[in-house]
Amino acid sequence: MALFRSGDDLYAVDGMCAHQGGPLAQGLLDGKCVTCPWHGWQYDVSDGKNLLTGKKMLEHFPVEVRDDLVWIELP
Ligand code: FES
Repeated sequence: MALFRSGDDLYAVDGMCAHQGGPLAQGLLDGKCVTCPWHGWQYDVSDGKNLLTGKKMLEHFPVEVRDDLVWIELP
């Protein structure tokens, strides 16, 4: 799993890139777009969609902060 913060918003998505399993938590985040550090695939961390194809390729999970703790809802 990879957890990102953009401004005041938190996003949790699969930590492995859908291409070849690159470590998305090590990718650069620009707004809601994360770029995989291995080959540059890009995803919207708010919905898991690949920005090139528009298809959802990552699972994303609801996140909330309660009492200064980050909670991630898992299926
Ligand atoms: S493993 Fe992420 S772009 Fe290739």
